[in-house]
Amino acid sequence: MEAASLSRIGLAGLAVMGQNLALNIAEKGFPISVYNRTTSKVDETLDRAHTEGQLPLTGHYTPRDFVLSIQKPRSVIILVKAGAPVDQTIAALAAHMEPGDTIIDGGNEWYENTERRMVEASEKGLLYLGMGVSGGEEGARNGPSMMPGGSYEAYSNIKEIVEKVAAQVEDGPCVTYIGEGGSGNFVKMVHNGIEYGDMQLISEAYDVLKNVGGLSNDELAEIFDEWNKGELESFLIEITADIFKVKDEHGDGELVDKILDKTGMKGTGKWTVQQAAELSVAAPTIAASLDCRFLSGLKDERVAAAEVLAAAGMKEEVGTIRSGIDKKRLIDDVRQALYASKICSYAQGMNLLRAKSVEKNWNLNFGELARIWKGGCIIRAVFLDRIKKAYQRNPNLASLVVDPDFAKEMVQRQAAWRRVVGLAVSAGISTPGMCASLSYFDTYRRARLPANLVQAQRDLFGAHTYERVDRAGSFHTEWTKLARKNA
Ligand SMILES: *[C@@H]1O[C@H](CO)[C@@H](O)[C@H](O)[C@H]1NC(C)=O
Repeated sequence: MEAASLSRIGLAGLAVMGQNLALNIAEKGFPISVYNRTTSKVDETLDRAHTEGQLPLTGHYTPRDFVLSIQKPRSVIILVKAGAPVDQTIAALAAHMEPGDTIIDGGNEWYENTERRMVEASEKGLLYLGMGVSGGEEGARNGPSMMPGGSYEAYSNIKEIVEKVAAQVEDGPCVTYIGEGGSGNFVKMVHNGIEYGDMQLISEAYDVLKNVGGLSNDELAEIFDEWNKGELESFLIEITADIFKVKDEHGDGELVDKILDKTGMKGTGKWTVQQAAELSVAAPTIAASLDCRFLSGLKDERVAAAEVLAAAGMKEEVGTIRSGIDKKRLIDDVRQALYASKICSYAQGMNLLRAKSVEKNWNLNFGELARIWKGGCIIRAVFLDRIKKAYQRNPNLASLVVDPDFAKEMVQRQAAWRRVVGLAVSAGISTPGMCASLSYFDTYRRARLPANLVQAQRDLFGAHTYERVDRAGSFHTEWTKLARKNA
């Protein structure tokens, strides 16, 4: 094969994400080779490349033909299921690759797997990137947000490609070199954890508006459309408005009311919460969203519990509260509660990233992370620009809530936020995400907590010692003896 006919890059794994990313790369003018063990997937992708604009894409049916069709140093993206399939695909391809070539895993991989493969690849002289890709099918086809981490040299080889393929926002393409090791996967994982939080908070806003405010789906669609023109403007708010508009083709009303209330998940949210615990970083909003997915899965138990408690005399409080509600004010309060809760959730995610960055020496640039999330990905939102600016003003910001601008917003919104949470608690409508965010805020902002009492208890039963507020050193007290003597 002549050098001129070689592809600029290759992509293996032609499920929906892989196909769409390959077509996107081809459309941006980079000739691409594609491969999948299942040959029909290759043919399908070739068909699409043809019908979607005679795109420069070639299909290959063996790992060898595929690898040899790519110009050196070769860059090969793999998009297969995380775990063992990645190892299998690497084994099949690496056999034909040469020192200096690069493997790029674009899946939602656990960062330590990436770091292991990085070492294995380097033994063969291969470079490696673990690249988080967010944006779903649509993003992959038209411009995702990409989080590549690992070999900087490998990144340099594909920089011109990913910068063209990524979503574009006013301050650049939604891609940047994240850092060494598995940092790209880790950042994508936390992105997904934040996504869990956003979705949970939006579902709570919906619950309060629907069940306390008594809003119809039509009204909800209108309100979310309205919210999408202001500070909450984001992909998730936009699609939520659309969801309320879809009629059920099998019956009366809207489809949303016919959907079983059981949430699925693939694991990145759980990893985020596990990592937060591992690093002793509080991430209560993200944890609450994960807990809610667990509880949502217990549909049968919840149905049974509702019956048992009703029989035991449990009364719905919603009706009486709803009769006295000022709808307009409730809607405005919920908007503010959602925004303030979101800021706390992002603060948790960013602080988790910071703790990991310190542990692993990744040197993450939080302003840049916020910037590349402004477009392409599921959490894309106008307010990420404010987060970017907060970290540009102060790269060592202790928490988003103490950035002067965000601090002002938190203070302005706290009365509304407390009203919504209070109302929901009295009505028996659970808002675990909003409550977690509010408690996080109220705990973090207080100069003095009741932790003094916990320290006294620990010292009493375990002689763990305590420090004092008024003098240096660590102290132990014979609490029981003194208490009994004074009594
Ligand atoms: C090819 O396609 C199948 C089915 O869609 C998938 O399970 C497999 O992981 C793909 N990837 C490769 C590299 O063969």
